[in-house]
Amino acid sequence: METTRHGAAAGDAGRPVSADWTIDQEWDSYTPEDHAIWRTLFERQSKLLPGRACGEFVQGLRDLTIDAGQIPDFRRLSDDLEKLTGWRVVAVPGLVPDEVFFDHLANRRFPAGQFIRRAEQLDYIEEPDVFHDVFGHVPMLAHPVFADYMEAYGKGGLRAQGMGVLANLAHVYWYTVEFGLISGVEGLRIYGSGIASSRTETIFALEDPSPNRVRFDLERVMRTLYRIDDFQETYFVIEGFDDLLALADIDFGPIYRRVSALPDLDPGSIDPADIVLHRGTGAYHKARRNVA
Ligand SMILES: [Fe+2]
Repeated sequence: METTRHGAAAGDAGRPVSADWTIDQEWDSYTPEDHAIWRTLFERQSKLLPGRACGEFVQGLRDLTIDAGQIPDFRRLSDDLEKLTGWRVVAVPGLVPDEVFFDHLANRRFPAGQFIRRAEQLDYIEEPDVFHDVFGHVPMLAHPVFADYMEAYGKGGLRAQGMGVLANLAHVYWYTVEFGLISGVEGLRIYGSGIASSRTETIFALEDPSPNRVRFDLERVMRTLYRIDDFQETYFVIEGFDDLLALADIDFGPIYRRVSALPDLDPGSIDPADIVLHRGTGAYHKARRNVA
């Protein structure tokens, strides 16, 4: 069975005392080594992102004073973010169950991993840590339209869970919030946190000939499976953040019924109805499959 990325991975062993899974960030407990890892990651990404991340992401980083100096203190970060869009950042031990995750988003709270990866995990970590969650996600939460989309997603998630169609909705989160690209006046840019917080995927998603780059279409994306442990084979490109917000007004019921009746699409496949911006060579994933 397919599991969703924002849930299910945290076992009962990691369950905190509080019902909403929040914990104290314990900012004072970060060691100089923890802050040094943050600095390394921050400096690497902030060198790469100009001209690659969308203007809204860069502006969010600047407005929230997320900088190289140290791992942000969520209380101060939240006070700044709340003034801009009403969102706060709360600490959690790692991935949380879906219903807990959705409830936080629906109430404009972003649950962020409290821990930071170790030095030998700079390029890949399975559970989202404070660098992925804060550097990757929080800048976009300073953008009013994106902030509204995230709240709508939380509410939509609670509804989808009740209807038993969560996997379809989770695909939308994956291909927008985590791995979304946007094409605007500046050209093709990154807004997805999974890309923006990864040195290697920043280059791969935008510049490598291997992946497909396809115009975002809601029902198409809902049917598309994804890769959890490697670069994406297909990236979906929105034309503006209003495209996302429009999703908040949709009655998902009829869409879920249509989508459930159709087969899932493989991550690397091109559908005849796609608007293809770049047809990928597939070379990267072919080479990976040959090794495996
Ligand atoms: Fe994430």
